[in-house]
Amino acid sequence: MLKGTKVGLRARHDEDIPVLLAELYDDVVNGSRADGQPWRPLTPGTKDPRLVVDDSNRQTVQFSVVELEGGTLIGTAVLAGIDPHHRSAHVGLGLRPGHRGKGYGTDVVAALCHYGFTVRGLKRLQIETLADNFAMLHAAERNGFVREGRTRSSAWVMGEFLDEVVLGLLAEEYKERKES
Ligand SMILES: CC(C)(COP(=O)(O)OP(=O)(O)OC[C@H]1O[C@@H](n2cnc3c(N)ncnc32)[C@H](O)[C@@H]1OP(=O)(O)O)[C@@H](O)C(=O)NCCC(=O)NCCS
Repeated sequence: MLKGTKVGLRARHDEDIPVLLAELYDDVVNGSRADGQPWRPLTPGTKDPRLVVDDSNRQTVQFSVVELEGGTLIGTAVLAGIDPHHRSAHVGLGLRPGHRGKGYGTDVVAALCHYGFTVRGLKRLQIETLADNFAMLHAAERNGFVREGRTRSSAWVMGEFLDEVVLGLLAEEYKERKES
């Protein structure tokens, strides 16, 4: 298990799936805002790749996020689009509603940075988020991510076009922060 200060990132367990399905993917607003694709209902027993991990997919590493103390499931985290040539990947995460706003998201980003840079030896991590997702923007910037651009009206979300922000963090910036 990868360990942050307050969270652990472990493999997906079968019993996580109904909880994540009910609290993250069945929620139309959360799904529409977080997934970058139109919301659609998922049937019980679904093999949707956001829930059921395909270990043969080498470009994506999915985690279930738990509280270190007690092991309660609090959400999901992913390193996606791992590109071994450019040595880059995208960071994603989603927490169960009752576990947001307590600093867990910031800690998850830190654990994913450790995995991406230290364990996998990547050069660059990227986050794309809606421009009004202040919690995500703060969690990224707290970990040293830099805003690199804003794509105007790039996301259709619940009846309107929203801007997205692209943030990036490089291995040398991560190392410098760790050493300071
Ligand atoms: C986005 C998300 C992962 C952030 O995790 P979190 O645990 O809620 O965030 P944290 O508690 O670590 O807070 C991060 C920062 O955002 C701030 N923040 C939290 N909620 C906020 C809000 N609603 N508005 C403004 N700032 C907020 C916190 O004060 C903190 O800032 P600080 O470090 O300067 O004090 C979580 O809220 C979530 O899962 N949201 C729904 C799914 C989602 O949006 N995923 C990301 C898709 S790209």
